Amino acid sequence: MEIIKVKDYQDMSREACSLLVDTINKKPNSVLGLATGSTPEGLYQQLIKKYQQKEVSFQQAKTFNLDEYVGIASDDPNSYYYFMNEKLFNHIDIQKGNTHIPNGMAEDMDQECRDYEQLIRKAEHMDIQLLGLGLNGHIGFNEPGTPLTSRTHIVELDESTRMANARFFNTMNEVPKKAITMGIDTIMESKKIMLLVSGEKKAGAVKRLVDGDITEEFPASILQKHHDVTVIADEAALLEI
Ligand code: GLP
Repeated sequence: MEIIKVKDYQDMSREACSLLVDTINKKPNSVLGLATGSTPEGLYQQLIKKYQQKEVSFQQAKTFNLDEYVGIASDDPNSYYYFMNEKLFNHIDIQKGNTHIPNGMAEDMDQECRDYEQLIRKAEHMDIQLLGLGLNGHIGFNEPGTPLTSRTHIVELDESTRMANARFFNTMNEVPKKAITMGIDTIMESKKIMLLVSGEKKAGAVKRLVDGDITEEFPASILQKHHDVTVIADEAALLEI
């Protein structure tokens, strides 16, 4: 696991952007695994800038998002579908048919999980998967206790995760209780993984990610077993390392 230490959130976003841009410029039809949350927002802004400066094109790229809430429609501002369009896809030259986000409103959610896996397999897995880090060690929405062998599946969100994400909703009641997420094994099949982390409140989680035991109780710990992981972390997030 390579750890790149940067000064702050801005530097983390810039560093991540240059790694992604390099990947796409080397292989224009790259398959990119994307994430939501506050962590990658700065990266998406940087990518839009690079696109506007004509330093990168997404014409041939394909994307797969990690996860989506169950029961939130795509036109709801809290859906990850809406987030991705708003924060990135609407501002770059990616072909809409090449972007994939699990459908949290599918009638048959088990079928949706199987279909999503199938699509990822057909695309021959992610060339690079972007990850954030949940306070409890979740990656995607794989909460503590998720089998390390899991594929795309439906999860019950932890209360702590619902609370962490409540800031986007009007009331706690509106925060979904379920989500659909790529599994841990799905993520581990990515050729390269780039995990971004910023801020002191994640410092404990970063310590467990880097130094802790590999356990289902802290899903991100499995990344220690992947052959090509780059963690881009700011000084505050690395306080306990
Ligand atoms: C969310 C997402 C994850 C994200 C994590 C951290 O619940 N499902 O993909 O990485 O929690 O979020 P943030 O970046 O806002 O701290």
